[in-house]
Amino acid sequence: MRHFLTTEDWNEDELQAILDRARALKAGASSSALAGKSVALVFFNPSLRTRTSFDIGIAQLGGRGIVLDARAGTWPMEFTEGAVMDGEAEEHVIEAAQVLSRYVDMIAIRCFPKFQNWNAEKKDPLITAFAKYATVPIINMETIVHPCQELALMLALQEKMGQVRNKTFLLSWVPHPKPLNTAVANSALLIASKFGMNVRMLIPDDVYRLDDRYMSAAAANCDDHGTSFDVMTDIEAAYSGADAVYAKSWGALPFYGQWEGEAPYRAKGGGFMIDDAKMALTNNAVVSHCLPMRRNVKIADSVVDSPAFLGIEEAENRLHVQKAMLEAIARDMDAG
Ligand code: CP
Repeated sequence: MRHFLTTEDWNEDELQAILDRARALKAGASSSALAGKSVALVFFNPSLRTRTSFDIGIAQLGGRGIVLDARAGTWPMEFTEGAVMDGEAEEHVIEAAQVLSRYVDMIAIRCFPKFQNWNAEKKDPLITAFAKYATVPIINMETIVHPCQELALMLALQEKMGQVRNKTFLLSWVPHPKPLNTAVANSALLIASKFGMNVRMLIPDDVYRLDDRYMSAAAANCDDHGTSFDVMTDIEAAYSGADAVYAKSWGALPFYGQWEGEAPYRAKGGGFMIDDAKMALTNNAVVSHCLPMRRNVKIADSVVDSPAFLGIEEAENRLHVQKAMLEAIARDMDAG
C-alpha cells in the first residue's frame, strides 16, 4: 500500500510520470480510475483550492469524496499515544483511522502545526498516526509539507520553461503580518532540488533557515544533480539571473510559538516584497505563489498582473496533478 505523505518517498521518475499524466488529463484525457471508490477529505484547517480541487477531481475520476470538517463537523481528535483524554478531544485517531478505513478507500488529511512545540510538531504526529492506524492509503493535503502543491508548481514550471534542469529557482521569503507555517517553503526546496534546479533561498536573517530535514534534503538533491544550493540574504545577488521566483512567508523556527522575539528579524524583511525592480534583475523569470496571497504585501500588483505570474496556472494544476496522483495510488491498490 502506497501513501502520498511527502515527495521524499517518491523518486523523480515516479513524480515525473504523475506530472506527465497530469498534462494528459489537463489536455482532456478522461479516466474512471476511482469508479466505485470513495475518499475521505479530512480538514483540520481552512481551504479554498485544496477542498475544491480534490472534491471535483475525485468526481471526475468517477469516485465519491466525503468532506469532513474536523473543526466543526467531527469530534475533536487526540493523536498522542497514551494520552489521558480528559481535555477537549472526544475521539482518538487510533479509532478514527480504523473506522474511516472501513468506509472509504483513501483518506486525505490537512492538519497544520499548532505553533506550540516544533520539535514535536516536526514529526507530523497526526498524519503519521493516521498512516500507522489506517488500513487504506493516506494522502497529505498540507501538514508540515504540501506535496500536492509541489507537483502543481513543478507542472507549471515545466509548462512554461520546458526542461527545468540547471535553471535557477529562487525561493524568496516575503513579508506577511503574521508568522506562517513553513510547509510550502519546505516543499519548494524539496521539489526544485529534486528536479535538478539550482536552488537559492533568500531570507532576511539566518533565523529564517528552514528545518534541517529540508535544508539537508535540498542540499543532498543538489549534490546528486551537480547543482547548487545557496542560502542568501542579499536581495540583488539572489534575484540576479534567476529563472523562477517563488514567494512564501514563514515564521522563524527559533521563535516558534513565542513570536514576540521574532519581530526585529521580521522587520529586516520589510523590503522583501516582490516588485518590478527585483524582477528586472532576473533572467526574465516567472514568478509564482501557492495562494492565498496578500497583494502588495508579498507581491506587487504590477508583478501579479503581469504575464510572468504563474499562480493561477499553478492553482489550476492542483486539480490535474491530484487526479494523476490519485490514479497512481488507485493503480497500486488494485495491483496489490
Ligand atoms: N494552496 C492551497 O493549498 O490553497 P488552500 O489553502 O486554499 O487549499
